[in-house]
Amino acid sequence: MGRITNNLLDLGVRAYNALVEWRRATPPDGPDPDIRAIRARARVGTDISSHLEALYVAGLAAHPRLIVELGVRGGESTFVFERLARRSGADLVSVDIVDCSTVSRYERWHWQQEDDVGLGRRFRSWCEARGLEPRVDVLFVDTSHLYDHTCAEIDAWFPHLSARAVAMFHDTNARKVFRRRDGTLGLGWNNHRGVVRALERVLGIRIDERRPLTCDAAGWHVEHDPTCNGLTILRRTGDGQVP
Ligand SMILES: C[S@@+](CC[C@H](N)C(=O)[O-])C[C@H]1O[C@@H](n2cnc3c(N)ncnc32)[C@H](O)[C@@H]1O
Repeated sequence: MGRITNNLLDLGVRAYNALVEWRRATPPDGPDPDIRAIRARARVGTDISSHLEALYVAGLAAHPRLIVELGVRGGESTFVFERLARRSGADLVSVDIVDCSTVSRYERWHWQQEDDVGLGRRFRSWCEARGLEPRVDVLFVDTSHLYDHTCAEIDAWFPHLSARAVAMFHDTNARKVFRRRDGTLGLGWNNHRGVVRALERVLGIRIDERRPLTCDAAGWHVEHDPTCNGLTILRRTGDGQVP
């Protein structure tokens, strides 16, 4: 798309969002301080703002001791996971290929600047060197959004998932113009179903990423939310086996 078209699209989205925000009622605040902080953060619309609360709630239910976040950037998801980690008494490992070392001040934060697939492949020895148990209770994947790379991430990281693990994938409904839960629009990009196709491969199912989905597949309970670029959450079912 040309620069002029992009600028016009951007202008249109801004005008539309201003109108939505003008008409929007402030949502009620929760009694929990973490939820309050996360809702306040989510009031600034980003590509992930609609899912911040879901990341926290789903993570909390896994009673995590170890959380791994793949893809940090400016730290929207890190903001959630450092709160989740503090609340749960967990260690948080965050990985990115670019320097995000100042994003968190959580005392049990382990920042690693590295290709995430490479780290996944040597995660046991990496944990051993830091006195960490290499069993991941919460895995969050939000990096390149490309099919081959997401497949490689799954292959490298799923063997480290614990029996009660939850694995969360962002950008499972990535598109050029996306709609947030509060009705505002954002501009993104089309990743040609990169992440959702990788999940289809591991789950052995076909996902219509434009619609909500709840089902069981390949040892996982699957919950897909198409809002705001999409978030798909996998929770282990009964047998606790790695598929
Ligand atoms: C969409 S951003 C992450 C957003 C972040 N989760 C948030 O909520 O603000 C994607 C990040 O993944 C990182 N990334 C891309 N490829 C990677 C790789 N192979 N290994 C580690 N990080 C990677 C990029 O540097 C970028 O910071």
